[in-house]
Amino acid sequence: MIPEMVLNQIQERLDIVELIADFVPLRRAGRNFKANCPFHEERTPSFVVNPDKQIFHCFGCGVGGNAFSFLMKFEKKDFREVVEMLAEKTGVEIPKDKAENPALQKRIAQSLEANRLALEFYHDFLLNKKEAHAARQYLESRGIREETVRDFKIGYAPESWDGLYLALKGRLPEEVLEKNGLVLSKKGGGFYDRFRARLIFPILDAKGACVAFGGRVLDHSLPKYLNSPESEIYSKGRNLYGLFQARKAIRENDSAVIVEGYMDLVACHQAGIVHVVASLGTALTEEQARIIRRNTPNATILYDADKAGELATLRGLELFLEQGLEVRVVRLPDGDDPDSYVQAHGAQALRDELHNAKSLFEFKLDFLKTKHDSSVVEGRVRIANEMVALLGKVRNEILRAAWLKELAGHLGLSEQALAAEMGKHRAGERASRFSPAITPAPVVESNAAPAAEKLILGLLFEGKDFLEEAKNQAGAEDFHSPVIRKIVQRLFESPAASVNRWINFFSEDAEAVKMISLACAETDHAADKKRVFSDCLLVMKRSRLKSEREGIRSQIIRAEREGDRNRISQLLYDLNELNKRERQTHEKK
Ligand code: CTP
Ligand code: MN
Repeated sequence: MIPEMVLNQIQERLDIVELIADFVPLRRAGRNFKANCPFHEERTPSFVVNPDKQIFHCFGCGVGGNAFSFLMKFEKKDFREVVEMLAEKTGVEIPKDKAENPALQKRIAQSLEANRLALEFYHDFLLNKKEAHAARQYLESRGIREETVRDFKIGYAPESWDGLYLALKGRLPEEVLEKNGLVLSKKGGGFYDRFRARLIFPILDAKGACVAFGGRVLDHSLPKYLNSPESEIYSKGRNLYGLFQARKAIRENDSAVIVEGYMDLVACHQAGIVHVVASLGTALTEEQARIIRRNTPNATILYDADKAGELATLRGLELFLEQGLEVRVVRLPDGDDPDSYVQAHGAQALRDELHNAKSLFEFKLDFLKTKHDSSVVEGRVRIANEMVALLGKVRNEILRAAWLKELAGHLGLSEQALAAEMGKHRAGERASRFSPAITPAPVVESNAAPAAEKLILGLLFEGKDFLEEAKNQAGAEDFHSPVIRKIVQRLFESPAASVNRWINFFSEDAEAVKMISLACAETDHAADKKRVFSDCLLVMKRSRLKSEREGIRSQIIRAEREGDRNRISQLLYDLNELNKRERQTHEKK
């Protein structure tokens, strides 16, 4: 992985117009530049380079992207090779891998040593110093025993401003202490401790070396937890708290339980449930999934009710599936987290919960049933569409087939249709690009990525405001085109960034890069972007209502044929509700 900072540095020193002009004669056309496309035969130029956004697009053959994408295509090289070429051209240095960099290796060794000493200092302080009396009492009040404190090397950072600093001073370079976040530098010079008057949870790597700390206040002051910053030895998304202590048990149980917090993990462990790791309050990452996968294919997620609910909408679970993990989910009663649950109900009750964990399949299905009305066909189709996308990510074929059958039975839809739809998701989404086959009625413009969606996508790269507005008005699932939906989902989850950076993000996904450059090229000339944006959102909503309406109509016809009165009146009611919603979209205009 090349650090994003390096990509940015290269791109700052590079002009896409100059770069492309070295290979292809460009002519000015308004704010942009044009040329005959170098990637297909043509007589009139449809290849456009946009200097403002630093991207290009060919309206003839559809290729597009940023400077890196251009060279990848032109020189037939992969992303890394192209970045290396351009790094050399622009004089940006790509940091070497750790192994070939002795200076970095030395810094890492020093950082780990600093943490080792800090851990000893905090731990000893908690166990032995009289100033840690309140901290010991606090742990006791939360039911944490001394043996657990020793197992996890829990510590206490004294209230003083420089307790740790003075203890480490002279033993290691100050910039090492500062870099890994043990001390902060004062304005006028000198340093002070980052962690003060906090319980300290050391975060160990797989080999047991301390790479970071989390510190909890003893009262209700904020922030409740303070953590070490990201550094050369610590990256939040690449660690799991407790892994060092849990790994053996995870292998023995052939299953890992994932909780959220420090206290959850410590409490489970103390209750004898040891095959547990903690994600530490961040969204689950691919790297964390891989770490678990190296130890077991079975993961059970044990979060409090709110967090488990949020999980259903996030990418975390999909990432786990994509790594080949079999995922189950426990949803604790409202108001409980694993720590409070096990303290109140005991280890056996928690074991029972784990035993009764829902499969990811059931969990997502239950969640979707609260979101869509499964008593009407349209609702069931929506549920089916989202479930099928999820099932497509399951690696185990037998499991996938079993779930598909269950889904079909459950929703009263044909297994074949679901399987066909899923096949498309599995074929890298290429086949299903523009035709969601099991929508109730033909979708408007089903042969092209709906124009409105494309324009919306283009405008999402124009800044925060459009992105926020779109998030308020729609969900990623409202976009019919799978490519656009995939991109929008990522955009919605992340802070606003330039289109150039998004193209780097999708650099290995040619389909996505093409769509992004096309969308930007098409919105480039819009005069009143705000207007285009709100019109397109409206068009998208109406087209959705329209396909829902057609679905209901065909249901009514069938129900009439079957003489099912109850069904007819239910459908008429649905139709009426839909009309109301539709009127609202007209009023808004
Ligand atoms: N977290 C954090 N920074 C915060 C709040 C939370 O890093 N300001 C992380 C911590 O890893 C924490 C986890 O998110 O353990 C879950 O947060 P929360 O549920 O608030 O805390 P608990 O783990 O339940 O801790 P406690 O029971 O002590 O309140
Ligand atoms: Mn808690």
